[in-house]
Amino acid sequence: MDNKIISVANHKGGCAKTTSSLNLGRALSILGFKVLLVDIDPQANLSQSLGIENERETISDVFNQKLEHLPVVKVSDTFHLVPASFELSAIELQPTINSYFLLKKKLEPIEKDYDYILIDCPPSLGILTQNALIASDSVLITVEAGYFALKGLDTMYGLISSIKENLNNGLFVLGLAITKTTHTNLNKEITQNLKDTFKEKVFETVIRTNVSLAEATLNRKDIFAYSPQSYGAEDYMNLAKEIVK
Ligand SMILES: Nc1ncnc2c1ncn2[C@@H]1O[C@H](COP(=O)(O)OP(=O)(O)OP(=O)(O)O)[C@@H](O)[C@H]1O
Ligand SMILES: [Mg+2]
Repeated sequence: MDNKIISVANHKGGCAKTTSSLNLGRALSILGFKVLLVDIDPQANLSQSLGIENERETISDVFNQKLEHLPVVKVSDTFHLVPASFELSAIELQPTINSYFLLKKKLEPIEKDYDYILIDCPPSLGILTQNALIASDSVLITVEAGYFALKGLDTMYGLISSIKENLNNGLFVLGLAITKTTHTNLNKEITQNLKDTFKEKVFETVIRTNVSLAEATLNRKDIFAYSPQSYGAEDYMNLAKEIVK
């Protein structure tokens, strides 16, 4: 089963999609893989967290048909980014029938250059997330270990099934990554509940709450550059190894 192009998705906001795209991507590149990150969120947080802001060309220009190819910024030799910008929000408001397959079409000529392509989705299930799911081999769903963790996951699964059935037959759920866990009993109960419900689909590695992850973003660094000894670095490296396996 191909598993090169992975959407990092969940329409719930703030459940660590961007933090996971960045640090999982970097972990994979440290493991020796060539990685492309694609920011398809109008908030452009992934681009910002790499200090890539105010780019002349972004993915918005591709959706606006001002640019033929995806603009790629080389963060390092093996770690590249397609940046986003706020203009992307216009696409969500005025989708056209042709725009659903756009990302898939534009990734086709460059996907052979990479081992992994991670797409950081916005917190919505509109045309941008649908573009990502249509272009992807699999979906990694990040779930914050909070009170409403399970809420909304059925909607997410519903969209994945419908895209699988109608537009992208090969699409599968790679797994659920539980993020921002703590030591509280409530938290342990929620984590157990997710494991009981989604069974082997839940990654063994959980991403613990770790302030270094938030600090790294503020400093425009990935966790391996900012604090390589932190829990955050350890957890994302373990998640990367689980995915490679
Ligand atoms: N394991 C963690 N420990 C501590 N803070 C974290 C952790 N993971 C993410 N955060 C922080 O939580 C906030 C939300 O994370 P992030 O931006 O990655 O979520 P998101 O799902 O991409 O959000 P959005 O839905 O807005 O795109 C950020 O401030 C981030 O630094
Ligand atoms: Mg985000």
